[in-house]
Amino acid sequence: MRPQSRPLTKCTILLFCLMTGTFARTLEELIIELKDKTESLQVKKQTQFIPLLSWQKDKGVYGSEVKLNFHGSSHLAFVRDEFSVFDNNMFVTAWVTSCLLEAYRYGGGPKPSRSHIELSLNSINQYRNKNRKYENSIMSFWPQVYNKTTSTYISTPANLLKLFDETDGLPVKTIEDILKLFGFNDIGKLIERLLGEKPMFRSAFHIPPDFDDTFVNIGLGALLTDVKADFDTEQQSWMNSNTNLTSVFDALKKYAYRPFSNDSNINTIDPRSYYYLSTFLEEVLSDATDLALTPTWISNIDETSNMRSKGVSMPFNINNVDVTVSSNVIYGITSSILTGLVPVSTLDDSDIQQIYLNTTNMVAYQLRTDFHQRRDLALTYYPSVFELYWFVARTVFLLNEKSKYSKLPHQDLETVLATLEPVLETHVTSKILTQAKPEGSNMLYFDDFLGDRDYDDNNHTLVKGDDRIFTTAMAVNTLISTWSIFDDKSSKLFWKKDVTLNVKDVISKCVNWLVKYTLSDDFKPWNCFFSGSGKGIDSMPFFFPINRLEFLNGTKITDYNHFPHGAPYIIGFKGVVPKSSYDNMVQNETHFGRKTTTTFSGYNSGSGYFPFWSSEPYTYATSMLALSQFNNIVKDDIKTNLIG
Ligand SMILES: *[C@@H]1O[C@H](CO)[C@@H](O)[C@H](O)[C@H]1NC(C)=O
Ligand SMILES: *[C@@H]1O[C@H](CO)[C@@H](O)[C@H](O)[C@H]1NC(C)=O
Ligand SMILES: *[C@@H]1O[C@H](CO)[C@@H](O)[C@H](O)[C@H]1NC(C)=O
Ligand SMILES: *[C@@H]1O[C@H](CO)[C@@H](O)[C@H](O)[C@H]1NC(C)=O
Ligand SMILES: *[C@@H]1O[C@H](CO)[C@@H](O)[C@H](O)[C@H]1NC(C)=O
Ligand SMILES: *[C@@H]1O[C@H](CO)[C@@H](O)[C@H](O)[C@H]1NC(C)=O
Ligand SMILES: *[C@@H]1O[C@H](CO)[C@@H](O)[C@H](O)[C@H]1NC(C)=O
Repeated sequence: MRPQSRPLTKCTILLFCLMTGTFARTLEELIIELKDKTESLQVKKQTQFIPLLSWQKDKGVYGSEVKLNFHGSSHLAFVRDEFSVFDNNMFVTAWVTSCLLEAYRYGGGPKPSRSHIELSLNSINQYRNKNRKYENSIMSFWPQVYNKTTSTYISTPANLLKLFDETDGLPVKTIEDILKLFGFNDIGKLIERLLGEKPMFRSAFHIPPDFDDTFVNIGLGALLTDVKADFDTEQQSWMNSNTNLTSVFDALKKYAYRPFSNDSNINTIDPRSYYYLSTFLEEVLSDATDLALTPTWISNIDETSNMRSKGVSMPFNINNVDVTVSSNVIYGITSSILTGLVPVSTLDDSDIQQIYLNTTNMVAYQLRTDFHQRRDLALTYYPSVFELYWFVARTVFLLNEKSKYSKLPHQDLETVLATLEPVLETHVTSKILTQAKPEGSNMLYFDDFLGDRDYDDNNHTLVKGDDRIFTTAMAVNTLISTWSIFDDKSSKLFWKKDVTLNVKDVISKCVNWLVKYTLSDDFKPWNCFFSGSGKGIDSMPFFFPINRLEFLNGTKITDYNHFPHGAPYIIGFKGVVPKSSYDNMVQNETHFGRKTTTTFSGYNSGSGYFPFWSSEPYTYATSMLALSQFNNIVKDDIKTNLIG
């Protein structure tokens, strides 16, 4: 920290006190308002799907909406604004609950009400994998519903499926003609296109459980354990529902992606994952070492072959590696060990140790190298890069807290801290700081992409900042988690010794912006926390180098130029090839007639669109966490000045 160059005059000190005095009250009031607002958005009472009238809303869920990222003309912006399907999933409920608990623990924020936590935990319990006939903590994004015909529990996004069923009988042509009459030609075409893609979306819903939701649930259990003194019943209730955490670690070992293995079930990956991972893998190859990374799906090729006809299969029948999922797995392992949910000896299992450390190295590498210029592939399902930054920073934050007064209980934890902390302090911090945008002289904000590519009648680009609140809050959360340490004894946050004035300045200016705008109605409280893996033609798996193409029954397909048909197939990259061979495939080969796209031109590029998930309670909870953590930082420099 740089020493303050000039002592403040008495007058400025007085003024400053007055300002911070008023400011602090407003900030605290806003934090309480945000907590109430967030909790009010939890579904208290189950509702049923009634076409055009109401969505199915499951009791206990913090909701999100499935939307379509159209952009451009006012018509397309209208569709983006208005199209929204309520979704029930585990991810949002778990994250909103975590933010509320963290704001309380790390930010001295208002205590979340027990009834709300209990509702969340009961809801999350509905997402446990029911296809395993033993106690398990293997979780899925959507609830599973039993299908009598196939005797299998199938992942079921109720509203999306019912909406699709409703549109089956729609007179599409008539609707299109009517829209044309009113001058909405583009919307008519769009509806036709959307309905045409229905079968593709429908089959993408039948997903297996995933390591993301699974480890987010474990992270929540660890957090509850940390605040057990205040949430004894709730912690006990989580423990009672998660009696076999071994099931998670067993699954991690079984399904890990092992490119150097001879087991064809797990040595092949989605060609998009291989593409962004290639330089990392090539480095590993030159060391001739072994590698095991956490994948997204708790499934493999054999299981998908066997279960596909029963309604459970990985998208494109192949697993992938997602940097955001990976960072949640790292947090889940770290926090469950630090809070004693699982024994420290878990890390003495060499396989778990390898997955934990290899995955950490991979995440650090991707952050350092900006995802091989393909953020859209690396953040496979989670477009918000600020969300990823925070997910990673939370791990470092927790490790710093737990090592303040005692040694970390395992060498691997030290290694993870030493690997991730420098990347956050250098590369990620400077990435964030350079993207800050000023408003006036005492406010800063961050934009990601939602609503930033429409144009008006004069063809001027409109920057609407639909994800500005969320992105600004996530930037603050990342910077605070990176640059401060929570002191368990005083329950306060302290800046690290080497935090720069610039970092502190950006944080407080963002807080000013959040105070003014989080509840002001000037901006949409939207985010893009989740999405389908394809963001347009340039991120479809078919158009990247592959070396394995076969029908699910194992029969090889040799034609790499025409799409196979007649039966489901897998398209993947097997093993690891030397850099020269891969570069040749990237530069000189076409894949089903297309050259490899090596750059990503943004989520709003071209005329494409993709489905995404936005959650208002998640935005409010994120902002509440940012504000309360800021409020709980001991402002040591100000104190020094006042005393000195
Ligand atoms: C159950 O599975 C069968 C076979 O996949 C499918 O045809 C049927 O629509 C499913 N039933 C329900 C209620 O989803
Ligand atoms: C715990 O999970 C493992 C699979 O990982 C399973 O073999 C075992 O039976 C489960 N234990 C109980 C008590 O259900
Ligand atoms: C894979 O198979 C080859 C040849 O059979 C063998 O040399 C190698 O050790 C095997 N690798 C692993 C990881 O089992
Ligand atoms: C992966 O883990 C193996 C076994 O622990 C180790 O030898 C190797 O260096 C690790 N590689 C990376 C890139 O983390
Ligand atoms: C609108 O502006 C974009 C660049 O911002 C340009 O590419 C496009 O041709 C313009 N369209 C019209 C109709 O002028
Ligand atoms: C596998 O499926 C393909 C496509 O349906 C078919 O042509 C082939 O004969 C099948 N092979 C076996 C061994 O069943
Ligand atoms: C692509 O092909 C050309 C011509 O055969 C060759 O000279 C070049 O080295 C190839 N590129 C790579 C990366 O292998």
